[in-house]
Amino acid sequence: MCPDTKIPKKKFIAKSVVINCTMLICDFLVVSISKIENILKFSQDFWKIHFDNYQINGINLKNLSDTGYFSDDQNHHILYGDIGKRIFLKNEHFFKPINTTLFKSFANKNRYPIIMNFIEGEYHLRFKKDLDNYILNNYIKSFNDYLFAEIRNFWDKLKQTSSRIDLFDEIIEYVIKQQFLFFFNYTLNKEELHHLSFYEDYFTFGLYLDKLADLEKYYSFNEFQKAKNIYDLLFHHFIKDNPSSIFSEFHDSMIANNYEYNYVFSQFYNISIAGSTNIAKSFIYLLCFCEDAKLNDTIFNSDLSDLETYILSGKLLAELYRLLPYVYNQVVPPFIIREASEDFNLNDEIKVKKGDNIYYYHLLQNISDNIDLPLEFNPFRPDNNYKGKSSPIFGAGLHRCCGASLTDTWLHHLLVGYLKSGITLKSEKGLQHTTYNPDFEEIKKVTYLVKVKK
Ligand code: HEM
Repeated sequence: MCPDTKIPKKKFIAKSVVINCTMLICDFLVVSISKIENILKFSQDFWKIHFDNYQINGINLKNLSDTGYFSDDQNHHILYGDIGKRIFLKNEHFFKPINTTLFKSFANKNRYPIIMNFIEGEYHLRFKKDLDNYILNNYIKSFNDYLFAEIRNFWDKLKQTSSRIDLFDEIIEYVIKQQFLFFFNYTLNKEELHHLSFYEDYFTFGLYLDKLADLEKYYSFNEFQKAKNIYDLLFHHFIKDNPSSIFSEFHDSMIANNYEYNYVFSQFYNISIAGSTNIAKSFIYLLCFCEDAKLNDTIFNSDLSDLETYILSGKLLAELYRLLPYVYNQVVPPFIIREASEDFNLNDEIKVKKGDNIYYYHLLQNISDNIDLPLEFNPFRPDNNYKGKSSPIFGAGLHRCCGASLTDTWLHHLLVGYLKSGITLKSEKGLQHTTYNPDFEEIKKVTYLVKVKK
């Protein structure tokens, strides 16, 4: 699952991620704050780049660009640029994702899927390779063909709707529905869909709680328990009855390879619902960017040829991937965070102690001042090539996203379908966010209400 490190500001970011360590970033960011806030106008309270999280505190990264490293606190180490990348990759075996031990023992005890970031050591690589080989390498092409044939129905149906709809819920349910059909040969009913989409979003945010008491409290929430029951029932159905499907083949190979029960459960999660909220959010953020840049009227696009539509969609996605880590987005931050699992030397001079935090800013180049107006959404840049599943937005190194192909396939089809549909969606209030659980004020659900413009 992916680190949505950016939403629950006080609770998680302050504690484990950014504010405490006086996050550092190039001075061009500081200079550009006011510019960006003028550019991104909608949903001001949410859709805003939280530069206060990245303050540089007097350090100018540009002057340090040949070292790839700095720190203004002995327990926090910041890596960036090409040299930083080399240091990060070379030392990865000393790192683990934050909250690993806590979440893994909690998930084992309570029988929640163990998120892949938290599976340690060699087993992590085997688990990841199995998922990649079986599902993605073998089936991504046929899934692509399947979505190609299917997606038009989604937009056609939406086009007929005259009432207000929450596009976030619609997309996430659609993603889950189609994944169940394709990988499990199973048609989910409305209630199941509703609960599974709730489960996915809510579960993900729990990953960033770093106290056992908070985890217990967060997941004992009634609504989540209802969703969990449905999820568990579906899993048992697929394990016990093992109906014929793409998943059943994968299931059989996992059993033959002596997978522990919890890991079968976790692979079920990876294939069924993992990351579906990130796909839905990313697509909506793209629509929001387009709305801000007044590019959201598909009337102008529905006459495009297939080739032109594909070219346009590649440009839009490339620009989405470039800027997404720099908005307050609940999907992906511009850095990778790790905790040192033992004492080691980062290089000849720098000692890292067990428990220290390492931040690798792998996406600084996305807003480099070599780019013309770097903070402006402009899909027509000549220099921003669409990298698809190879985009650095999906991370780097051992834990690089294994949902990258799936995500890119989904976003591509949703977008091409949208551009071809001729539909124009009018958002009512931009992005909104409501609290899921009154005990966890900072953990929010996204809502994006739209009406079809007739
Ligand atoms: C816009 C959508 C997505 C983005 C931006 C994204 C981004 C990322 C990033 C940056 C990481 C690396 C985290 C780290 O190094 O700490 C990651 C890991 C991961 N992602 Fe995604 N992801 C997305 C969607 C998905 C989807 C749909 C899946 C479904 C299978 C998925 C599954 C995973 C898993 C299992 C990992 C952990 C891999 C590991 O630990 O080896 N992601 N993702």
